[in-house]
Amino acid sequence: MTYDLVRGMYDILPDEIPWWQLAEDAVREMARRYNYREIRVPLVEHTELFTRGVGEATDIVTKEMYTFQDRGERSLTLRPEGTASVARAYLTHGWQTSEPFQKLFYLGPMFRYEKPQKGRNRQFHQYGIEVLGALDPSVDAEVIAFAWSLMEILGLGGLRLRLNSIGCAADREQFREILRRHFAPSIDRMCDDCRRRLGENPLRILDCKDERCQPFIDKAPGSADHLCPECAEHLTAVRGWLDRLELAYDIDPRLVRGLDYYTRTVFELMSSDLGSQDTLIGGGRYDGLIEMLGGPPTPGIGFAGGLERLVLVLQQRQPGAMEVERLDLFLATLGEEGRRAGMKLATALRRFGISVDIDHRARGLRKQMAQANQLRARNLLVLGEDEARAGRGRLKDMDSGEEREVSLDPESLADLLYPGCDDGCDGDCDCSGGSCSPS
Ligand code: HAM
Repeated sequence: MTYDLVRGMYDILPDEIPWWQLAEDAVREMARRYNYREIRVPLVEHTELFTRGVGEATDIVTKEMYTFQDRGERSLTLRPEGTASVARAYLTHGWQTSEPFQKLFYLGPMFRYEKPQKGRNRQFHQYGIEVLGALDPSVDAEVIAFAWSLMEILGLGGLRLRLNSIGCAADREQFREILRRHFAPSIDRMCDDCRRRLGENPLRILDCKDERCQPFIDKAPGSADHLCPECAEHLTAVRGWLDRLELAYDIDPRLVRGLDYYTRTVFELMSSDLGSQDTLIGGGRYDGLIEMLGGPPTPGIGFAGGLERLVLVLQQRQPGAMEVERLDLFLATLGEEGRRAGMKLATALRRFGISVDIDHRARGLRKQMAQANQLRARNLLVLGEDEARAGRGRLKDMDSGEEREVSLDPESLADLLYPGCDDGCDGDCDCSGGSCSPS
């Protein structure tokens, strides 16, 4: 009997991990520079959080959620996105009273029952940021600048920022009516989903991908032309900030985003380095979400992007294996006594921060040497009965081929393997031989 992967789910194998870590490290680095704190929310929430938060008429809620009953007959859902969970956490921990202003980021798996294709999966991974408790347009600009800088440090080219405003709840209500009037005469020529959307939420028609609907969508009015004075002023101020920060953008009047919680600013960041799935990041304001979940009126804004897409671009740019960290020492052991001494020495050296590997399959010396080469070990030490007894052995530098006799005392061997780090520090640091910035 064989077990296949579930459709839309996949393994991320050890050889691919360096690219994932590169992307994740960039997110963490940007979070450090912009001062966002990490939050980790559960993978499973009450279904109601998403039906209310993300919206009953959205594709996510109508078609894409992994919903199940637990043994206590509660309806639970694997999170399809992170914003609703972060908003829930804000209320769960009483931040609306204790610390209403929050700048948070997250990384992790999300689940949507979508048609799998390149860069689109059923279990996928998002990185995202959320700012809660501030309405000022400078926050919108900071969130967009974060997204932009992240792509810059990863070296992504051809960045394009699409910006729009869908206004406040009253603006949206009015705009829905305008859209209803626009689409009603042609609705019979549009897809079944759009027919349903016309009654439920005609804004959703604007993100329909069906070919039949495009001519009507292309002629639809734009939300930014139907804003109340406050929302229009907010958009003008956001644009002013983006200009000051020299972040180029296009106003896209038909950008509405596929989730119902958005208000005012919505944006997407695309890259010409991605093929058809060119949206790297999508985000916007959600000033009504916390209130919708039972909290006080609290503004919010954020974005999320798919890690798979970032990894795809990084892999295209640098094909082949990525440089991985080298092993400090491979201990080749001979005979039972050598293996016992080797295991003991390896464990002691690891306590000093040295990376060590050892053979566990009692193989001959040739095979162990091949393993050391494959692991790109910096050093090799052969440990047999004689060395174990004498407490001394020969350490081989695998790059230069030079050998020298060394003591097998773990502390002095650890010192030899790392007399300080490579970057010119004097060894008076706790970098354990990695790299550090000399003080
Ligand atoms: P979203 O547009 O649904 O927004 O997703 C954001 C990004 O996640 C997309 O632009 C894409 O890069 C990635 N993504 C979405 N679905 C998939 C998939 N099936 N496979 C791979 N990548 C995918 C949100 O999720 C909002 N929570 C964003 C947000 C945060 N708005 C405010 N704060």
